[in-house]
Amino acid sequence: MQLKQPLFFDTYKENKDADIQALIQGLLCPQATLSPKYFYDEMGSVLFDAITLLPEYYPTRTELEIFTQQANEIHAHFPKSATWVELGAGSCQKAAQLFTHSKPSTYVAVDISVDYLSQHLKDLQAKNSDVNVVGVGMDFSHSLTFPDKLQQQLTLDPLLALYLGSSLGNFNPIEALYFLQRVANLCKMGQPGSGLIIGIDLVKDSSTLERAYADDLGVTAAFNLNVLRRVNSLLGSDFDVRDWQHSARFNVQESRVEMHLQAKKNLSVQWQGQQRHFKQDETIHTENSYKWSVKKFTTLLLQAGFTNTRHWTDQKSHYALFWAN
Ligand SMILES: C[S@@+](CC[C@H](N)C(=O)[O-])C[C@H]1O[C@@H](n2cnc3c(N)ncnc32)[C@H](O)[C@@H]1O
Repeated sequence: MQLKQPLFFDTYKENKDADIQALIQGLLCPQATLSPKYFYDEMGSVLFDAITLLPEYYPTRTELEIFTQQANEIHAHFPKSATWVELGAGSCQKAAQLFTHSKPSTYVAVDISVDYLSQHLKDLQAKNSDVNVVGVGMDFSHSLTFPDKLQQQLTLDPLLALYLGSSLGNFNPIEALYFLQRVANLCKMGQPGSGLIIGIDLVKDSSTLERAYADDLGVTAAFNLNVLRRVNSLLGSDFDVRDWQHSARFNVQESRVEMHLQAKKNLSVQWQGQQRHFKQDETIHTENSYKWSVKKFTTLLLQAGFTNTRHWTDQKSHYALFWAN
């Protein structure tokens, strides 16, 4: 018998030129910046999955704990015979865990790490022949428009959007609002019962937050440094990872953990006839991870166009899962 194969749409590769221009612009800013979306080549995706196993990295464990301990209440908000659209699905491990409780008729996994997603989807499809598994390689930071054929299909069933792992934290509050507006519009395309389930990391003490982004084994440091190799492969630049070190700090005023790469010495980096000098200790800002309060995030969901919200937290109130429609 032939195994069912997932359907796969790859819309990401078409936008490479625009990405390169944005990368160069970020590197030439007075505070050099790289978008966190560049972390996720194959190595970056593997390293992220390793981070989720670290004792210091509480978000993944805590999100799973909430899903497990309050399973009946949470899954009561999952529409039946639905299409699930998981944004930033990565290895799809979370969907595989959720399938033990509720199953969609169609599961659409969206991610910028196209090859990594595609490999893991084959596995998920092989283990779940009763679900139509669809992959979309896409950068959703600016738009959430799916290929025509898929976009039409999304109107036929109730649609459950899933955005887990507190990935929304990479967007600043304005970007997060625009992103959630696009998700609210996506949910409105589906049949009645459509909604969103989203995982959000909450504000807490600085030391718990900073340890989660600077673990003792140095896995997060490797994840951060790997972005320089990614930039080398996209731009043809000559970053040497040995010249840089990882740093993570909680910026209380902005309510965000910032990750930076700090130059260990004065150096310059060249690419395509251009160059940038970095002084010793100067940094490249590689990630923000915004932390929210339940109250502020509920307000954001309502501003984005959702009308009903619910949330569940763990005992320490470190993390929250929200439902909205
Ligand atoms: C923090 S990881 C979370 C993975 C998984 N959802 C989890 O909860 O463990 C973020 C995921 O979003 C994907 N991603 C990041 N930026 C993206 C973008 N602009 N468009 C699409 N996917 C993106 C990454 O490849 C990665 O799989």
